[in-house]
Amino acid sequence: MKKFFSVKDVASVSEVVNEALEQKANPYALESLGKHKTLGLVFLNPSLRTRLSTQKAAMNLGMNVMVMNMDKDGWALETQDGVVMNGTTVEHIREAAAVMGEYCDILGLRSFPKLKDREEDYSEDLFNKFIEYCGVPVVSLESATRHPLQSLTDLITITEYKNSKKPKVVLVWAPHVKALPQAVPNSFSEWMCQAQVEGLVEFTIAHPKGYQLSEEFTNGANISNNLEESIKDAEFLYVKNWSSYEQYGQVFPVTENWMMDNQKLALTNNAKVMHCLPVRRDLELSAEILDGPNSLVIKEAGNRVWAAQVVLKRMLESLAK
Ligand code: CP
Repeated sequence: MKKFFSVKDVASVSEVVNEALEQKANPYALESLGKHKTLGLVFLNPSLRTRLSTQKAAMNLGMNVMVMNMDKDGWALETQDGVVMNGTTVEHIREAAAVMGEYCDILGLRSFPKLKDREEDYSEDLFNKFIEYCGVPVVSLESATRHPLQSLTDLITITEYKNSKKPKVVLVWAPHVKALPQAVPNSFSEWMCQAQVEGLVEFTIAHPKGYQLSEEFTNGANISNNLEESIKDAEFLYVKNWSSYEQYGQVFPVTENWMMDNQKLALTNNAKVMHCLPVRRDLELSAEILDGPNSLVIKEAGNRVWAAQVVLKRMLESLAK
């Protein structure tokens, strides 16, 4: 594996989930695989789970890890070609990425969208240039449009906790006070659509009008604007806020109450409730659910290690070839 950026970078989601669960059952079986190999984690935005779980996964595989908080400690990056750099940017991504590739065998990058210009964000220009110029395998730690380590984690968690062969999984829009990216729901949706193709889940998306995601990510999903109707018989609820894709980065007032609570949970098939975290209590998701027996959020966050470990394992194996 030379790149982990979207669901298209794995041949089969069920295979990669099973391989991750093998890593979970025996975390140190490959502790020599990464000996004398270096992972560089480059953050342009904050992170708790992605940073620590990916470091932990790399350590389980015997790798050395370096972390660069580019937003705080790095030079201001220029990404456009052909510009005279007489403004605020100090270093071009051509040199910065290439230099990081000299120090590291594998690189990870996190870069959020600006939510101003849809075309610019969805072009993934920064990520594509980073991949092109660094010259080593790259794992996405969340880009403008996707968060694949989170989505793989989510499918691992669903596989572990499901009570039926093909559980109903519902991605539920949640309220928020800020405009958030579509990366997590886009990514969750493309992974669940592929899991549905492989016969692993039945997938529904529920959101208020105006919050439809790009069709590029939702092909095959059942989509509804009726919260109560769509969560009936659900075995898993995946709760997440996102801003509008159509009216890009905007948030509209929603009059109905979309926050998931125990009253709504009673309409489901005793659904397990998931959220990628961080979560705003009693705004996105009720504290009674987060502290109750149906919440999977902590186990889900724990599984971030195994998603990262299987991806790094595949990349290390490809370096050896
Ligand atoms: N879910 C997730 O990616 O968490 P962090 O932003 O803390 O890494």
